[in-house]
Amino acid sequence: MKKIGVLYGMENTFPGALVERINAMKLPDIVAESVQVGGVHEAAPSGYAVIVDRISHDIPFYRGFLKNAALTGTIVINNPFWWSADDKFFNYALARKLGVAVPHTVLLPHKQYPAGTTDRSMRNLEYPLDWKGIFEYVGFPAFLKPFDGGGWRDVYHVHNWEQFFQAYDQTGDLCMTLQSAVKFQEYFRCYVINQKKVHIMPYDPRRPFHERYVKDPPTYPPELLTRVERDALTLCRALGYDLNTVEFAVEDGVPYAIDFMNPAPDADVHSVGETNFRWIVDAVAEMAVEKAQQHAGTTAGGFVWSSFLSGKPVTKAAASTTAKKSAAKKAPVKTAASKSTKNPGPSV
Ligand SMILES: Nc1ncnc2c1ncn2[C@@H]1O[C@H](COP(=O)(O)OP(=O)(O)O)[C@@H](O)[C@H]1O
Ligand SMILES: [Mg+2]
Repeated sequence: MKKIGVLYGMENTFPGALVERINAMKLPDIVAESVQVGGVHEAAPSGYAVIVDRISHDIPFYRGFLKNAALTGTIVINNPFWWSADDKFFNYALARKLGVAVPHTVLLPHKQYPAGTTDRSMRNLEYPLDWKGIFEYVGFPAFLKPFDGGGWRDVYHVHNWEQFFQAYDQTGDLCMTLQSAVKFQEYFRCYVINQKKVHIMPYDPRRPFHERYVKDPPTYPPELLTRVERDALTLCRALGYDLNTVEFAVEDGVPYAIDFMNPAPDADVHSVGETNFRWIVDAVAEMAVEKAQQHAGTTAGGFVWSSFLSGKPVTKAAASTTAKKSAAKKAPVKTAASKSTKNPGPSV
């Protein structure tokens, strides 16, 4: 019997519905439950074929548990190694390289020295900063927001340089980005599941929180929706997330990706509404089952740490076999492939 576990924090509706949905499939060899975990022994199997992680961004103990689980063969949604390594600024840069439209964005040095550092720790930093150049590149209005944030925390909408400096002065030792504001006509939030399925949700961030998922959307041009779907998939495939939301603000028909590092996206029925809730519960249930069925059991042998980023742990044995084959062909030896995820509750 293969077990699918759900790891969660304060959220109420999604985890229980997911467990129920999977168990309602009545598959002979698969059962779902809430994860139970205590003290974790190094390299001890978790007992789960698949774990759906909704909370390790807030609880370092859970992140440590999940990496250990991945090491012993559990498939973790989303990959805890990559989630730990990722940040939003890198995501914007990656999107630019991938040809997905993103607003001009600049990474800024911390306003205050991080704890335990002084001006001597900052001697590589240009001073004074070229604020004029930064403001010219980004333009106003703009958003000042953390390079690694979520849940709308520490997000400032600024219209001129006075407002910018007032906001920047409040950011302490956070690492911030300044991003050109998209003057959007349409706005979409998309669930992207298993790097395959996209569910586009019209969303209005200007409305009160409980009314943001638009229930009576207008008809959108099909080519706009096609591009949104394609760009959402491009981003999640490049980032390797199996469960994510991608947010697009659309100005003059161009969808700009502005937030796409939400590996524990809001899935509460009270905020996303019945229809979206049913979609996400079904899609995650199907993905978890598919992955549990593919699960090969714990892997023995040595491992190449970097391969965990790709979600494909490579055993020493497999790596040396590849090396021997390559040597036989007198081709350069290829070793393990290395290719190339904070909120209370779900990231929104
Ligand atoms: N470049 C932008 N243009 C227009 N609106 C933005 C932009 N950046 C952020 N926002 C607004 O601020 C909200 C929060 O920013 P976001 O990047 O989504 O951070 P978080 O991860 O905290 O949700 C967005 O949902 C959107 O309404
Ligand atoms: Mg957001």
